[in-house]
Amino acid sequence: MGSPPVPVPFLAPMLRPLRKGSYTRRAMPQPTPLLERYRDLLARPGEDFPISLGEGGTPLVHAQRLGAALGLDALFLKFEGTNPTGSFKDRGMVLALNRAVTSGARAVVCASTGNTSASAAAYAAAAGMPCFVVLPAGKVARAKLAQTLAAGARMITVDGNFDEALTAVRALGAQGVAVVVNSVNPDRIDGQQTGAFEIVDALGRAPDAVALPVGNAGNITAYWAGFSLYAAGGRTDGARPRMLGFQAEGAAPIVRGAQVEAPETVATAIRIGNPASWAGAVAARDESGGTIEAVSDEEILAMQRRIATTEGIFCEPASAAGVAGVARLAREGRLHRSETVVSILTGHGLKDPDIVEAPTGSPPIAADLASLRRAMNL
Ligand code: F0G
Repeated sequence: MGSPPVPVPFLAPMLRPLRKGSYTRRAMPQPTPLLERYRDLLARPGEDFPISLGEGGTPLVHAQRLGAALGLDALFLKFEGTNPTGSFKDRGMVLALNRAVTSGARAVVCASTGNTSASAAAYAAAAGMPCFVVLPAGKVARAKLAQTLAAGARMITVDGNFDEALTAVRALGAQGVAVVVNSVNPDRIDGQQTGAFEIVDALGRAPDAVALPVGNAGNITAYWAGFSLYAAGGRTDGARPRMLGFQAEGAAPIVRGAQVEAPETVATAIRIGNPASWAGAVAARDESGGTIEAVSDEEILAMQRRIATTEGIFCEPASAAGVAGVARLAREGRLHRSETVVSILTGHGLKDPDIVEAPTGSPPIAADLASLRRAMNL
């Protein structure tokens, strides 16, 4: 089974005293890159995908402790924080950058609340392509800025919010100056469908409901397209999940049915007042018999903590919005105990560490056993 053993001559002398005979290791089988895994659904004839950072293949964790507390026996968390740049954006960015290279683009550009820029910067670096990111001043989590800068992207901050930044970026794209890699780029949506494919592949069927945060509304659009494509291709029994989207109360244009001029929320990733894929989100909601609702900043932060303390998964605030919504629907009897519910944790908590309350600054104690036991109360 697997690959043939490969001799490792430089290790052998060191191991000889421990184990007689020649030492061999098995070459570690590498996971198939995401776009290759779903080539039949995503690739154009003869298309190559030379760029990959190991995106996708994220864990689908059965959240047993949290599920029990919420009254759900089959609550799963799909943790997208394990993607190369720590968010789901990498699934679509890998396709967008591969295609930008093929099309001979001079540069890529995006507006972002932080994760798109971190992802674009990384994949552009891997592609050897200049990358420009346009960010709303003062509203992007610190670690996302660090990721973007570390990868060598040119960062331009604007005196405006995400929606204004995206409008300006789309105008740049229309002039052919650079390829826009926001989710208005269909390659982004196509690549993000792989999240839905992986869920069906893992469960053996589509779940009953999928919950996720909604900002620019590309992801809910992509998941619905992914489940639909799988169903149409006969890879499921035809059933598709109800799509449950959650916006932050201060940035809930789809819920209110009107643009929000000055969106505000602690979940800066979804601080968006005029989603580009608004129509896609509404279609996903209506065609699936789902819902799009708002959750408060308090519900978001409380759920972020709860996911970390009950399941050991540290996600960013926006990611917790979906689970906060699930908690409410379960409480109101709109999700049932036996239903299989998957909530997408879209980004890693380490991207926004400032949001977690700093421990109260008790002074250091003596480094001895007695002092430690006193401090631990054990
Ligand atoms: N969760 C996280 C962590 C995000 O970064 C985003 C969007 C969303 C959810 C919402 O997804 O926009 O497809 O509805 N972040 C974008 C960005 C806007 O620029 O990084 P969506």
